[in-house]
Amino acid sequence: MKTKNLFPALMILAFAGLFFSACHKDSNKITPVKATLYDSLGGTAMVADPANPGKMIEKGYLGIRSVVDSTIFIIAADNRINGHFTTLLSEVSHKNLSGFDELSMNISTFVAVGTGAKDYTYMGMNMVDAHDPAKNPRMNGKATNADFNAFEADLVAGANKNHVPANLITSLGKIVESLRSQVVQM
Ligand code: HEM
Repeated sequence: MKTKNLFPALMILAFAGLFFSACHKDSNKITPVKATLYDSLGGTAMVADPANPGKMIEKGYLGIRSVVDSTIFIIAADNRINGHFTTLLSEVSHKNLSGFDELSMNISTFVAVGTGAKDYTYMGMNMVDAHDPAKNPRMNGKATNADFNAFEADLVAGANKNHVPANLITSLGKIVESLRSQVVQM
């Protein structure tokens, strides 16, 4: 009689045991979080933005923007390819930095999103239109393969200037290389 009365309670205990052991297993399970290239470049940690006093910025974005800005300066002095940037260079020589600021933001955001940033949205033109002078009059003439090689070399120089580790430069280089056919349209 007693045994019969205990049966439902034992069943509940048995199910509860199964349930809790399943939960226990789940809570012990390590869900691997794959680090992105963006994480390696500094990730989402917030740091002071040296260009905007009082504002914070993701460390990954700041690192990328520093490389992009250095690279734009290197390109501006590179006679192999600076002829494509005549509009920008003319603006800067007249102390108008609006085009520079927009290009810096667009390339930085493009690279940030491409390397895994989640808190930024690229709002610029797609890579084909951005490098088609018919669609983007700021692009002075179509880029050749040689132009693209020079651009890559300038980007590596910009990354080195900002002490980006060699392995991360290699990873960035692979992403850039994957875009060659969209940028070189001749
Ligand atoms: C994978 C390599 C490259 C990337 C990721 C890239 C990215 C970009 C981006 C995001 C923009 C801005 C688009 C917009 O304003 O909506 C841009 C503009 C431009 N790109 Fe590139 N680009 C690359 C290679 C090149 C090369 C090889 C050249 C020529 C040597 C070039 C020349 C230009 C020029 C002249 C502009 C317009 C600049 C301005 O706004 O004044 N790009 N690029």
